Amino acid sequence: MTKPTEKDTSHWDDYWSHGFLTSCADAFDGNYQGRLRQVWEEFFRSAKGNATILDIGTGNGAIALIASRISSELHRGFSVHAIDQAEIDPPAMVKSNTDGLAAIRFHSRTPAEDCGLPASSVDMVSGQYALEYTPLDRTIAELARVCAPGARLLFVMHHSDSVVLETAAEELRLGKLLENSGFFDHTADLLEQMSKVPADQAHLLVNDPEAEESRNRLNRSATELKSLVAQTPNPQILQNALKSVSDCFRWQRKPGSEALALLALYRRQLDANLARLHDLQNAAVSERRGQEIIALFNAQGFLTEPLEDIYQERELLAGRLLRASLSVVA
Ligand SMILES: C[S@@+](CC[C@H](N)C(=O)[O-])C[C@H]1O[C@@H](n2cnc3c(N)ncnc32)[C@H](O)[C@@H]1O
Repeated sequence: MTKPTEKDTSHWDDYWSHGFLTSCADAFDGNYQGRLRQVWEEFFRSAKGNATILDIGTGNGAIALIASRISSELHRGFSVHAIDQAEIDPPAMVKSNTDGLAAIRFHSRTPAEDCGLPASSVDMVSGQYALEYTPLDRTIAELARVCAPGARLLFVMHHSDSVVLETAAEELRLGKLLENSGFFDHTADLLEQMSKVPADQAHLLVNDPEAEESRNRLNRSATELKSLVAQTPNPQILQNALKSVSDCFRWQRKPGSEALALLALYRRQLDANLARLHDLQNAAVSERRGQEIIALFNAQGFLTEPLEDIYQERELLAGRLLRASLSVVA
């Protein structure tokens, strides 16, 4: 069921290829925990035997895995389909949960708005940090097509007022400052000049005015970034950049090393990280957008419950819960 997609998904393809199970890298022990996990366990426990379950925007299958575990624990015989627009292959990439993942049918490069499943074939739909990333009107029309009468749907969406969104906004701001500082460009200039002389004669570059100018520019931008580190509550993106550049210079001293290629790799990783943060910022659901999503479901014949916010230890999670069910047409 692999489909071509015109969208550039490389920033997600790359992320999932590292084998993280959740979209918060290794912030969770094994899989989502606490209130979020409870929400999903309750939902999947309420599914009938042999239910067909569709998990959209699955990534490496964290939520589909909860369905698959409940199916095997309670002998429910669910068929779990898990789709993502990005290129995914969780059984090959994720080193843990191998049995649970093997029981799921993953569909890579499969957008929620055109999932390819037969009409009226799905009993339960799940999506965590997923629905809000998709073209809502087309996705909801597609869900109306594939859902069987009485199907139930549950989505956890990013809340626009959550700590996660605050952090994302700050990291995007710092990402822009990092780019404007020219830090990586100055690093590339100096590495290039250093690559023209043997490693044991790099000290001679002090007599090369062009190399000296690159070095001064690099030092100025590094000083600028270090002072930003001290002023932000979320310095990680800057700290990573400073560390990456120092890795490149350490690497450059090794004969035959490709320090410029290493720098290019770090830059690609940073760009992919920023592109995912942009997606997150565009996806986040405010009160108004939440009501618009509900209206779209209602227009397609779904019954909906009011939005609910998810708290854990009094902190607002990146969660906004939406429950819907496809009403039975007489
Ligand atoms: C934040 S991740 C969530 C992954 C997973 N559900 C979780 O909770 O860890 C968002 C995922 O949505 C996927 N996505 C974005 N647009 C999509 C679309 N139109 N159809 C299907 N998946 C999409 C992205 O590729 C990405 O893997």
